[in-house]
Amino acid sequence: MKKLMAANWKMYKTWDQACATARELVQLAAKQLPEDREVLVFPPFTALRGVSEAFASSDFMTGGQDFYPGEEGAFTGEISPMMLDDAGAVYGLTGHSERRHVLGEPDELVAAKTAYGLDKGLNVILCIGERIEERKAGKVEDVLKRQLEIGLQDVPRDVDPERLSIAYEPVWAIGTGEVAGPEEIKAAHGFIRKILLDIFGEKANEIRILYGGSVKSANCAEIISLDNVNGVLVGGASLQGESFSQIVLA
Ligand code: 13P
Repeated sequence: MKKLMAANWKMYKTWDQACATARELVQLAAKQLPEDREVLVFPPFTALRGVSEAFASSDFMTGGQDFYPGEEGAFTGEISPMMLDDAGAVYGLTGHSERRHVLGEPDELVAAKTAYGLDKGLNVILCIGERIEERKAGKVEDVLKRQLEIGLQDVPRDVDPERLSIAYEPVWAIGTGEVAGPEEIKAAHGFIRKILLDIFGEKANEIRILYGGSVKSANCAEIISLDNVNGVLVGGASLQGESFSQIVLA
């Protein structure tokens, strides 16, 4: 299973800035990329096509940070999986903690997006993770189980496991500089694998589980060497071509 090294650029970068970073990344990392790694960037929608084009000479991929579970219609401000595909994206992100906790997206909408995106041909990364008060209350497993069971409730049990990934992003580690420790990551990822096995059976071993939350070049090698860590989803440290290239090559 290849490790998926993913960058979430969130609401950063104009078209020119995004294209420049994408070109720099190709220059710094495409030729040296180990066989067992894949690189994926989630730019803002407005720069998606430009970044997809900047990656054309490489195997690097792009994805949409969000999408609406419908083909077209009167949904002001929304964007469909087909539009993402049209802009060169092959992945879609669902359930990011900022969508859940800043924009108030409920588990059921995350579920609808996850199933719809997969049905329309996107590879989907479903993000899950507990808040600090949930961790302190000993509820990590309850939260992860609920977010997985509801988030995946409409996904067909015969889904191609290579098209579905889970990102474990503890909310308290996102953008805070505070990284979950190796034992915390191993425990959460092992638990996620167990729930996936309960839902999908044996083929759940082929579903990638990424870690996200203050990943940087200094901690990436250790994190991706842990059991059941099949890649990373990086925010802040992915915004510069140089630091993200160090992460993907770590
Ligand atoms: P940071 O790497 O900035 O903590 O963000 C993680 C994240 O939210 C990736 O989706």
